[in-house]
Amino acid sequence: MSQPNTIERLRRKKAKQEKFVVITAYDASMARICEAAGVDMILVGDSLGQAVQGHETTVPVTVDDIIYHAKAVTRGSQSVLKMLDMPFMSFYSVSQALANATRLMQAGFAEIVKVEAGAYQVDIIRALSDNGIPVCAHLGLTPQTVHKLGAYRTVGNRTDEAKRLLSEAAALTEAGADLLLLECVPAALAKQITDNSPVPVIGIGAGVDVDGQVLVINDVIGVSAHVPRFAKNFMPEAGSIIGAITAYVDAVKSGQFPEKDT
Ligand code: KIV
Repeated sequence: MSQPNTIERLRRKKAKQEKFVVITAYDASMARICEAAGVDMILVGDSLGQAVQGHETTVPVTVDDIIYHAKAVTRGSQSVLKMLDMPFMSFYSVSQALANATRLMQAGFAEIVKVEAGAYQVDIIRALSDNGIPVCAHLGLTPQTVHKLGAYRTVGNRTDEAKRLLSEAAALTEAGADLLLLECVPAALAKQITDNSPVPVIGIGAGVDVDGQVLVINDVIGVSAHVPRFAKNFMPEAGSIIGAITAYVDAVKSGQFPEKDT
């Protein structure tokens, strides 16, 4: 029998330097296909704001939206580990974060929740972790703050940003984060964070030297309006949805995706 998909399994993969694969999914049909393709974890991400709802950003997405899509995903895939996003302003205080994470676990069947985090969220990560809620801290480009950032851009090229990311990664794991996710972080910095991290690190636009990769499913199967430069449409070479997702899984596991220097 194959081993169940748990966070512990991701930790073992990090220890053995085996890459793991994460993909977003928002409905039962795609979740079923992702499971068949052998992904390690499905993220019900707030990227559904753009991918499904047609918004410009993730800001309009609500906890109810995440739960609605997560229920569908759960009907489609029983054995894949499921991470649910905590959307914009659903974790602005410790009590809000605990209440909303509880809903995501009880109504949305989350096995881990993801929080766009920085130094300011250390207490929130600690409270979630202390209360037995597995949590992933998402660092680097945090799309929920796009209106403050001014643009979707790489974070960590400047020395002050790089220092801040290194210290935030350490503080958030010390506070109890079970996973880190680095978005649009320079590859050398992502490697340094991964080498120092006691917990598995997932990357998107963060180079090949992280422990696992995540992509938005719409990019992988070529139905996004715009595929970011660090993502890949696997559809032309694969020819079918199951083929494209399997090609993504194989490319991550064999170290061929992402290519060095992307
Ligand atoms: O919401 C999402 O899909 C994400 C990924 C882009 C990492 O946060």
